[in-house]
Amino acid sequence: MPESTDKVWEINLFSSEFKENAYQIYKQLRLNDPVHRITMPSGHHGWLITRYQDALAVLKDDRIIKNPRKVLNTDKPNRVLAESDLLTNHMLSSDPPDHTRLRSLVQKAFTPRMVEGLRGRIEEIAHTLLNDVQDKGKMNVIDDFAFPLPIIVICEMLGIPAEDRDKFREWSNAIISATNQPDKMRQIQPQVQEFIDYLHDLITKRRQTPRDDLVSRLVHAESEGDQLTEKELFAMIFLLIIAGHETTVNLIGNGILALLEHPAQMEKLKQQPELIHSAVEEMLRYYSPVEIATNRWASEDIFLGGKKIPKGDMVLVMLGSANRDPEQFANPDQLDITRENNRHIAFGLGIHYCLGAPLARLEGEIAIQTLLARMPDIQLAVNPATLKWRPTFLMRGLEELPVTF
Ligand code: HEM
Repeated sequence: MPESTDKVWEINLFSSEFKENAYQIYKQLRLNDPVHRITMPSGHHGWLITRYQDALAVLKDDRIIKNPRKVLNTDKPNRVLAESDLLTNHMLSSDPPDHTRLRSLVQKAFTPRMVEGLRGRIEEIAHTLLNDVQDKGKMNVIDDFAFPLPIIVICEMLGIPAEDRDKFREWSNAIISATNQPDKMRQIQPQVQEFIDYLHDLITKRRQTPRDDLVSRLVHAESEGDQLTEKELFAMIFLLIIAGHETTVNLIGNGILALLEHPAQMEKLKQQPELIHSAVEEMLRYYSPVEIATNRWASEDIFLGGKKIPKGDMVLVMLGSANRDPEQFANPDQLDITRENNRHIAFGLGIHYCLGAPLARLEGEIAIQTLLARMPDIQLAVNPATLKWRPTFLMRGLEELPVTF
């Protein structure tokens, strides 16, 4: 890594080397080239925003937009995923007024008050999953606990069979790991098509026989005509499934890893379980589960950090880097579950601030608290050096986390 700004170096965001060394690379970038230009596999130029203050500026800037069709000379910006065009018209790739309309259709289901009503059920799910492994004295935290818990919750909210979760996992893993890589996107077309067929079948069933679930309510909104198009209906359910599958699993997995790496902090949390709220906020900051915010596009030339980001270029906010910026956080590489004024941006900021944040927080708190209460002598079962981060572009999450208790 160079020491000065004149030198240029290539960063491959898609490599496992990057994932393994990301926090050192972020440190260098924040110091030497905080608004750093890269070339994406699609050929677009992208700008990595690594400082906290610049990240806030970008996330709040309405000249930096989400819908690429408005700035790119192509009607197929997402290439292969967009071939069907069925899965891309969701709120996370829309700007106002479409974004406002789409978000307001589901906002109510995710308010802190609605989500609090799920507490008892989430606790029950956490206990059931731990009952299944308790006698074995060991588990893989990811597969046995962190993954199924949020999936069961989101499937129940949407009204889709949780038994199908292995299929969702395969589809959503495939799609997430192909993000921003046109070649990989082409390879995973069969999985994308299976996912679309599944959604088609589900929507048809709920159209025929509505139930008291989110999918039925969205199908109803679509049938009303002016609130939701059919494409938007598919994309909305797709987004909620993906968001429910790929994120909270990493909060729980990364959070447990962070505690295992910091035994004094783990001990403190066991002694003072009431610290769980600030502990989960710190886990979100320390190993941010969504490491890079989703694609944004400059709708005009933007000047930031002494650089000109030309109209049409991609802007990538590195949440994982902003959340370790020493200008904002004292001792940023230290896990401190009592950290005060922890204004991390792990859930983003501005109009696309995570819709599922209250749910994710509740799930994270219940999962970690239940696990520590039931398995207080939890220990890593492997050499820490053998743990691997999944080489996915947007997310930070472990392949597996074997523990004994
Ligand atoms: C720890 C878990 C989670 C984290 C760290 C997380 C993080 C994020 C972030 C960073 C964004 C903004 C992305 C951007 O601006 O580019 C976002 C948006 C979103 N998240 Fe989450 N998320 C989590 C869990 C969930 C859950 C459980 C759901 C619900 C199913 C959810 C639904 C959404 C939706 C729908 C959006 C788009 C909001 C919009 O465009 O207005 N998230 N999330």
